[in-house]
Amino acid sequence: MTNISTGERSARVSTRYHPAVIDFGCDYNPEQWSPEVWLEDVALMREIGITVVAINIFGWALLEQKPGVFDFSQLDSVIELLHANGIGVNLGTGTSSPPPWLTTLHPEILPVADDGTTRWPGGRQAWCPSSPVFREYALRLVREVGSRYGSHPAVRLWHVSNELGCHNALCYCDVSAAAFREWLRARYRTIDAVNAAWGTTFWSQRYSSFSEVLPPRLTLSTPNPTQVLDFDRFSSDEMLSYYLAERDELRGVTGVPITTNFMVTAHIKTQDYWSFAPEVDVVANDHYVDHRLADPLLELSFSADLTRGLAGGEPWLLMEQATGAVNWQPRNLAKAPGAMMRDSLIHLARGADGISFFQWRASVQGSEKFHSAMLPHAGIHSTTWREVTELGKALGSLSEVTGSRVVAEVAMIFSWEAWWACDLDSRPSEEVRYLDQAHRAYRALHESGITVDFVAPGADLSGYSLVVIPSLYLVRDEDAAVVESYVAGGGHVVVTYFSGIVDEDDRVRLGGYPGAFRRLLGISTDEFFPLAEGETLVLDDGSGAGIWSERTTATTAEVIAAYASGTLHGRPAIARNAYQRGVAWYVGTSLDATSFANLLQRAAADASVPTTPLVAAAGLEVVTRRSADADFVFLINHAEHPVGYFGGPATELLTGAPVESEIEVPSGAVRVLRIPATSTDRQI
Ligand code: GAL
Repeated sequence: MTNISTGERSARVSTRYHPAVIDFGCDYNPEQWSPEVWLEDVALMREIGITVVAINIFGWALLEQKPGVFDFSQLDSVIELLHANGIGVNLGTGTSSPPPWLTTLHPEILPVADDGTTRWPGGRQAWCPSSPVFREYALRLVREVGSRYGSHPAVRLWHVSNELGCHNALCYCDVSAAAFREWLRARYRTIDAVNAAWGTTFWSQRYSSFSEVLPPRLTLSTPNPTQVLDFDRFSSDEMLSYYLAERDELRGVTGVPITTNFMVTAHIKTQDYWSFAPEVDVVANDHYVDHRLADPLLELSFSADLTRGLAGGEPWLLMEQATGAVNWQPRNLAKAPGAMMRDSLIHLARGADGISFFQWRASVQGSEKFHSAMLPHAGIHSTTWREVTELGKALGSLSEVTGSRVVAEVAMIFSWEAWWACDLDSRPSEEVRYLDQAHRAYRALHESGITVDFVAPGADLSGYSLVVIPSLYLVRDEDAAVVESYVAGGGHVVVTYFSGIVDEDDRVRLGGYPGAFRRLLGISTDEFFPLAEGETLVLDDGSGAGIWSERTTATTAEVIAAYASGTLHGRPAIARNAYQRGVAWYVGTSLDATSFANLLQRAAADASVPTTPLVAAAGLEVVTRRSADADFVFLINHAEHPVGYFGGPATELLTGAPVESEIEVPSGAVRVLRIPATSTDRQI
């Protein structure tokens, strides 16, 4: 924990946030407890080594009990108490939820759903992202909080609002409608350009003026898809603009790094984090294991890697996770013993330099009272408390990992815009969901023991030996050109079906699918043949497939596998095209997990990327972080029995034990090998 003395305060400038050791933290809601409890809290926090706590996340109604009348006495006491105990503060601006007096005074700030109904106060985040009235009140609070604590030595990080867009990302009210029109005017300049982009000759939708345009409110039939897509873009931009307004207000009064907690998760897709990430001083993410998914732990790794991608490969912070159950899934499953340690260390392995929890002490009232916490209702005589104590020790023993970077030779292109577009209505098959396709590709890499970096469309690919592009349905010309020139220069790509189909306006590219990548892939498809529910296919190399097929002709590509069953019997399903100095693979169907992993191993071998499918098959997840001095090899055992791993000579950091050449990782456990650098010209 870095404390800054008074003399140093003025020298602080706004900068990136780099914790000196692994941050260990939590959301702390002292306002729910009496001051005697606070004393116990900080004593226990010190006992387990908490370095930073997020406070004042939902502070507004207490700080400003009447319009313009501020009372900071309680927050002052909490910050002083934490500071006196050497605990850093991740200070919320407090604007996440407006107090009831504000929504009573200005009901026009309330969000409106697509069916025109208001979302009332009584929960949280009841505000319209485009509301100038909300913004005015919120920024006044930010100015007050910012100037009061902006140079307080305990404050290490600013936490703008909370999970921006978690509930209120899409607002269809009249204020939003007007803001949407302005956004469209800035993007297209003329209404004719809107008509052209949205294809409004279809179904008599032509607009004569901007004043006729509405957000995509609930319609009788399917709505105009590009209108919906543009509204998604607008809504993402509006929330970012709101963040920037708070950030800029803070910038004026504080030199402390500023961030907000992202939600890189399977159930929230409203924010294009590629545009958001450059605006924060450190990327922070909230992740909750989602038991509604087929493979919750795979999604945890996916989310952690995608978060690292947003951070441009730099370390990031896990701002929230749960010690056990959440309260918002249909069945809120507890974590098995050891699972919380394992989950935390997976985030760390994949680039996190901080592990924090929602929340410190379990509430006794409110809708989150059955949400887990570091200090559960049972108190310190609990398994959870023992486990968080162990986690604190583990993070302490891993402090030299701080600042190191994950090593990956393979990239995956991921796009929120393609996600929005791919999942619009009226597609060939409702089973083709963008995130599902990305997860399938990720699983195939995971099962091959390949660590992957996520990159945005258009990103520089030159540092990677292989790039995987799952169902990039919407792609801009210039971003497709980056992929093509990467392959032309010697790169290898694997493109899966339903990629390159439309341009940025959701306009189909003509002349055969997959439009933007047809030449690169050396194939052409004249018709999609999505499969019936539950239908499966077999390929002539023995691969199994489902969901999708298409009638493809190989133009310049070599056919790797053809359909051996169904209507398209004999037609290419998998193709490989030598394109100038590189190679482009096409996967025209949804391969089953094993077949997909086998194919990616073949593509990886072709691109000279090492794979370790046998290690992965044994249940061991292996991820390496690298510093100038050492490699830190994280070994995560998902199997129900111990697994041996050859590596060394090394030191195992969690136990301190020397490792000659082999280590046994117990079932469910994590081990971290520190292997000293042997070469001086290492890539970091
Ligand atoms: C997050 C939120 C926290 C808490 C948590 C519960 O969405 O930021 O305030 O509600 O979920 O899982």
